[in-house]
Amino acid sequence: MGVKYIPEPFRIKMVETIKVLSREEREEALKRAKYNMFYLAGEECYIDLLTDSGTNAMSQEQWAGVMRGDEAYAGSSSYYKLVDAGKDIFGYEYIQPVHQGRAAEKVLFPILLGEGKYSISNMHFDTTRAHVELSGARAIDCTVEEASDPSLRVPFKGNMDTEKLEKLILQYGPENIGVVVMTITNNSAGGQPVSLANVRETAAICKKYGILFNIDAARYAENAFFVKQREEECKNMSIKEIIKTMFSYADTFTMSAKKDTIVNMGGLLGVKEDTELFQKIKGRTISFEGFISYGGLSGRDLEALAIGLYEGLDENYLRYRIGQMEYLAGRLDDAGIAYQAPVGGHGVFIDAKAMFPHIPYYEFPGQALAIELYREAGIRTCDIGSYMLGNDPDTKKQLKADFEFTRLAIPRRVYTQAHIDIMADALIAIKERAASVKGYKITWEPPILRHFQAYLESIE
Ligand code: F0G
Repeated sequence: MGVKYIPEPFRIKMVETIKVLSREEREEALKRAKYNMFYLAGEECYIDLLTDSGTNAMSQEQWAGVMRGDEAYAGSSSYYKLVDAGKDIFGYEYIQPVHQGRAAEKVLFPILLGEGKYSISNMHFDTTRAHVELSGARAIDCTVEEASDPSLRVPFKGNMDTEKLEKLILQYGPENIGVVVMTITNNSAGGQPVSLANVRETAAICKKYGILFNIDAARYAENAFFVKQREEECKNMSIKEIIKTMFSYADTFTMSAKKDTIVNMGGLLGVKEDTELFQKIKGRTISFEGFISYGGLSGRDLEALAIGLYEGLDENYLRYRIGQMEYLAGRLDDAGIAYQAPVGGHGVFIDAKAMFPHIPYYEFPGQALAIELYREAGIRTCDIGSYMLGNDPDTKKQLKADFEFTRLAIPRRVYTQAHIDIMADALIAIKERAASVKGYKITWEPPILRHFQAYLESIE
């Protein structure tokens, strides 16, 4: 019982003051935000776990890099530094900066997809699904069965179901599958890792049918840390070797660099070998993001990103990082609170369906718990369940997600053990009054990515 907290492998040099609103003020804020966490102001949140994306604390080396950033429109030295780092770590010939992950999707996907085409993934993240659909194509998730049982502790719950993948390819026709996407770690399944063996198998299937294999690489370093811990063939490899090996199996990668590269803004697109794809990517980057040597970023962002790419690989840092999740998960185990287990890499995904068995998926248990966490302790989180999944693009009916999670996404190098204890205490308090918590209904929603903007109301 009880997991030891791994001390921060850093000292704090700059601080940001946070404040707690009173219970009444929080209730007002929720009402004003129409029970949508994205409408709360950052300053209204005591502990902000909405996302681990772009919320990281940069190091002194990165801040020094910000001052060195070269702002040349074309050919800035920061761009060359970033490209060299990308080539070194991933082993790809072509590295294109873009302003964030969805920009990489916007540049790449319409080249590969369109009306009548499909993208198959171990799980599409919401923006990834949106860009597949915006191209006119359809997104199919193909996650291993184990992922949908939060209490089942297996090492690689993020994996692609490769048997099902091959069946889907044959069912829809290989010529209609524009891309296979491997999301590492598998964010929506709970930050769950994908094994090197699974990437290799998926790559072999893609090769057999001539389908392009893309890695959605937002959390590549956390994934590599799990692989090193859990996969026999990798236990003596460095994090960098694991990453290079894993990426060698894919053809391209899209990356939100706002996660494992520990910066506040940025994205990357990689192509392994010289193909016509380069040229098309360059054209679309110039149209949508800016010239290829800055891709929607400032020179200072490119510089911080180049440094962060290496900092994110540090094993001491990764041990502490994953250790934070394990510590919180340990406290939840002691309290009998269910979450996607074993805990993933960038957050703890609480099983809201288990906490609120009386709230059906169409009344959004994950969102209900997010609201309660704010009410209880000023903690902002988000739903990763049916509320986020949204409606079927063809029938417009509410889809039922495989799970109903509330995600406590932990920003990198930001919160301490005391903050994590507050998260655990809040969840324990909510569990005690869980039976009285009500579901929610949507009173207004936009057609795509509705969870960012929808209005909600409690069901009385
Ligand atoms: N792919 C994955 C797996 C992601 O988790 C995200 C973003 C993206 C793509 C899109 O990247 O935000 O830089 O445009 N995930 C964030 C999250 C927003 O909260 O999980 P982006």
